[in-house]
Amino acid sequence: MEATASTLHPNREAPRVPGWPLIGALVPITRLGAIEFFRRAWERYGDTFRVRLGPRDVVCVVHPDAVEQVLMRNKDNYIKGATYKHLRLLTGDGLLTLEGEPWRKRRRMAQPAFHKESIRALTASMVDVTRDVFDGLRARMPQGGTIEAHHEMMRLTLEIVGETLFDTRLGSSTDASAHAFGEALELLSNRGSIPVSIPMSVPTPGNLRLKRALKLLDEMVYGIIRRARAGTAKPTLLSMLIDARDAETGEALSDRELRDEVITLVLAGHETTALLITWGFTLLGRHPEVVARMRAQVDAVLGDRAPTADDLPRLPYLRQVVDEILRLRSPVWALGRDVVAEDTLCGFRVYPGETVMPLPYFTHRHPAFWDEPERFDPERFLPERAKARHHFAYYPFSVGPRMCIGNIFSLVEAQVILAMLLQRCDFSLPSLAPVPPKALMTLRPSGPVNVQLRWR
Ligand code: HEM
Repeated sequence: MEATASTLHPNREAPRVPGWPLIGALVPITRLGAIEFFRRAWERYGDTFRVRLGPRDVVCVVHPDAVEQVLMRNKDNYIKGATYKHLRLLTGDGLLTLEGEPWRKRRRMAQPAFHKESIRALTASMVDVTRDVFDGLRARMPQGGTIEAHHEMMRLTLEIVGETLFDTRLGSSTDASAHAFGEALELLSNRGSIPVSIPMSVPTPGNLRLKRALKLLDEMVYGIIRRARAGTAKPTLLSMLIDARDAETGEALSDRELRDEVITLVLAGHETTALLITWGFTLLGRHPEVVARMRAQVDAVLGDRAPTADDLPRLPYLRQVVDEILRLRSPVWALGRDVVAEDTLCGFRVYPGETVMPLPYFTHRHPAFWDEPERFDPERFLPERAKARHHFAYYPFSVGPRMCIGNIFSLVEAQVILAMLLQRCDFSLPSLAPVPPKALMTLRPSGPVNVQLRWR
């Protein structure tokens, strides 16, 4: 693996992982799983390597210098393009998938709802929802018991996004919506992994399941929009988007545009944070000493009182733990960008028509930037240590103008959930067998994450 920057290679093509005509490396990826496949490729070929994925040549990049070049220094040369084709079936044209001027306009509209001050105002709602969900769990299991963390955290974060951004408690529909989202994402990921996508009009079992999931999600989202248009809801991000007018044309967003944005925000805003907490259980369950330190901080700062926005900066160790979970189990494990014009990344040429794939999962383990990369160690994120590190060695929320709009939202949300969890219960893992990650669009656990709760 290359520890130093670009100048080591004259301009030439990155080494290529062998593959088959037409399908490229899809067979070994399916056999080994994406994470294991890319790990082996990285170990064998270094920080920049080329792999054929179906119809496209993909150049994978791990070194922070290349990450900086793609996401920041030469960002206009790398667009979302084909990589997001499958996601568009679900989200249409929302913040995640728009490009150019339409994206800039939309981002300007939504940004105020994600400023630090706006998130401060949402913290109390996050606390209310989390309290209700934990109370519900306690009522269901008064003596404690085992939960499947991924399922429960998806429900919790979906409720939080609904309440904070759309003033909607999804309540009884939460399970159905969470399931529909999960199903849609899995099916879209599968579509992305085969070289030729079967058109949606062909009634394959997969297409039919996808259509059913999309119908259910549309019903949920149009219901939220109708209610917000009727003016019965509190002012939220959604009411702000409804009231917004284009500075030049004076036009408002149509129902379809609002649908795309709501579904984008629900999708981007709940699965990732749910995964962060779920993976957190798997790591913390093996590190009681870290849990003890977190709990001591929570007890000292909060006691039994619910957290407020002002408390969160006083829980710095919780924040370090969250950062370390995101390092080792980055929910967005890979980013995809299409190359517009020829460029050089760490000395290797990339060409128009190719895709460049920064791999945060591996950059976050690069031995030149992280000691003992596989070790769970929140001390890495002490401010002075974080400052001394390459700025692009850590990017769970991406970097540059397309950086996650919800990063502060989710960091606050994660701190709130963890603090309230520690106040209410002890937890342990009934099995310490590793839960390997399954890399779809996001990094999911490949099996159930069972967690034993004992109420305090
Ligand atoms: C742990 C939690 C989260 C992680 C790890 C995460 C990660 C990311 C990443 C890596 C991107 C860039 C994707 C790309 O450019 O290809 C992104 C974009 C985005 N995220 Fe997040 N995210 C999280 C939580 C949230 C939340 C809570 C929301 C909203 C409530 C949100 C909304 C978005 C949106 C709208 C975009 C597109 C931004 C744009 O291109 O303008 N995310 N996120």
